[in-house]
Amino acid sequence: MSVKSICCIGAGYVGGPTMSVIALKNPGIKVTVVDLNQARINAWNDPDTDKIPVYEPGLGEVVGEARGRNLFFSTEVDQAIADADMIFISVNTPTKTYGEGKGQAADLKWIELCARQIARVSQTDKIIVEKSTLPVRTASTLKDILSNTGNGVNFQILSNPEFLAEGTAVEDLMAPDRVLIGGDDTPEGKKAIEALVNVYGAWVPRERILTTNIWSSELSKLTANAFLAQRVSSINALSELCEHTEADIDEVSRAIGADSRIGPKFLKASVGFGGSCFQKDILNLVYIARTYGLEDVADYWEQVIIMNDHQKRRFAKKIIKALYNTVNDKKIAFLGWAFKKDTNDTRESAAIYVADHLLFEQAAVAVYDPKVGAQQVYADLDYLNTRSSEENEKLLTVGTDPYEVTKGAHAIAVLTEWDEFKTYDWQRIYDQMLKPAHVFDGRNLLNAAALTEIGFRVHQIGK
Ligand code: NAD
Ligand code: UGA
Repeated sequence: MSVKSICCIGAGYVGGPTMSVIALKNPGIKVTVVDLNQARINAWNDPDTDKIPVYEPGLGEVVGEARGRNLFFSTEVDQAIADADMIFISVNTPTKTYGEGKGQAADLKWIELCARQIARVSQTDKIIVEKSTLPVRTASTLKDILSNTGNGVNFQILSNPEFLAEGTAVEDLMAPDRVLIGGDDTPEGKKAIEALVNVYGAWVPRERILTTNIWSSELSKLTANAFLAQRVSSINALSELCEHTEADIDEVSRAIGADSRIGPKFLKASVGFGGSCFQKDILNLVYIARTYGLEDVADYWEQVIIMNDHQKRRFAKKIIKALYNTVNDKKIAFLGWAFKKDTNDTRESAAIYVADHLLFEQAAVAVYDPKVGAQQVYADLDYLNTRSSEENEKLLTVGTDPYEVTKGAHAIAVLTEWDEFKTYDWQRIYDQMLKPAHVFDGRNLLNAAALTEIGFRVHQIGK
C-alpha cells in the first residue's frame, strides 16, 4: 500500500519537526499536522519562519520549503483524520499528576481521546502510528477502542517511537541512527509496516530501518531514554567523588569514553539532566516494573532520578555555601534557562529547580537566556507551586542583556551550555560584579583557567 495522505495529531516538539521532514522528503504525500491549540497552529503558519513555535536549528528552512506545497498545519482535526490513510499520534504523555500512579505513570488521557476521535470520524481503513512515547502494551488499549466502532473500518496499529533530541532535531531526523517500526506479525500488520518503511525509505537507508513486534518497539523507546539518562546520572555521581579527591571528571570521561565498549557520548557531567522526557520515561518504566511486582528492577532505575535530583540540589547548596552560607538579597545571575542549548524548551530544566532552591533562601535571582523570555521563566516557577506568582516576580527578574543581568551580582551560575556564553567579554563582566566574584559553571562550559586569571572564583562540576 502506498500512503497518499498523512495526518499527525499534535504539533509539538516532535510532531512539528518530524512531519516537516517527512513532508520535505516525500513531496507526493500530503501531510497535515493538527492540534487543538490555535495559537500554536497560527505560529506554525506564520509567514516568517523565525516565528514558528519550536526553535530548532535548520527547521525554519525545512518548513519554508514544504509548507503550502504538501505540508499543512491546521486545527481541523476531524477533517484531517477523515482524509488520511495514515495517522500519527504525537500528543503529549506527561507524568500523571492525580489518582493511581500519580507522579510516576504516564497520563494517557490525550492518547485515549485521540483514539476515540479517530474511531468516531473514520470512514475508511487507516494505519495508526504511535509516535508519542508510550508505556509498553498501550497499543492493546488503542486496538480495543478502535476495533469496537462497529462501522467496519479496519485499523492497523504501529509503534514508531521518535529518537530525536531537541537542539539537533533536524539533523537527527535527516540522518537517524535508526528508525524503529513495530507492528503485528500478520499479513495486514506486515503490509502496514511496509507502508511506513516506504515513507522513511524516501531518505533513510533501508538497513537503518528496524522492524520488530509492537511490544518490543514500545519498550525499546523507554529503555533507550533510561540508558541515556543513566549515563548522565552515573557520571554526575562520580563528579561528586571527583570534588573530594582532586580527580577531574572531564579527564575521567575522556579516559572511560575511549573504551569502545563504553563510547564517548553522554558522559558530560552537568548540573543534572532536564527535558520533557528522561524523568517522565524513567518514572514510567519504574511504575510499569512495580505493577508487575518487580521491585528490584524498579528500585534500580529509580536511582537514576534520585541521583539527578541530588545533583541539582547539590549545585544550589554549593552556591549558598560559597557565598558564606547566606544568599539573602544577594544577586545571583543565571546564564541559561533552557534544559540544553539550541532549544527554547524549558521543561524540567535544571535551572528551574536550582532557582527554586535559591529563592527559598531569598536570593535575588536574575535570568538571561538567548531563547527563553520572562513569561516562560515565570510560568515554569509558578508551575512548581512552591510560592505565589507575586513572590516569584518580586524575587526573580529576567533580562535581555547578559551584561545588565550580571551587573552587580555576587555570583554567576551557568545553567545551559549556550555557545554564546563563551564569547562574552568576561573581563567586562568581572569589572561590574561584586567581589569576590564567583562563577558556578554547571556545564563545565567556560575556560576556568582564563576566568581565574581575570580574578573570578570558578566552581565547576567534578573539579
Ligand atoms: P508537546 O507538548 O510539545 O506537543 C504535544 C501537542 O499535542 C500539544 O501541542 C497539544 O496541544 C497537542 N494535543 C494534545 N492532545 C491533542 C488532541 N486530542 N488533539 C490535537 N492535539 C492535541 O509534546 P512533544 O514534546 O512534542 O512530545 C510528544 C510525544 O513525543 C510525547 O509522548 C513525548 O514523550 C514524545 N517524544 C518527545 C521528544 C522531545 O524531544 N520532545 C522526543 C521523542 C519523543
Ligand atoms: C532525549 C534523547 O537524547 C532522545 O533520543 C529522545 O528522543 C528524547 O530524549 C525524548 O524522548 O524526548 P533530549 O531530552 O531532547 O533528548 O536531549 P538530550 O540531548 O538527551 O539531553 C537531555 C538532558 O541531559 C539535557 O538536560 C542535557 O543537558 C543533559 N545531558 C546530556 C548531560 O547533562 N550530559 C550529557 O552528557 C548529555
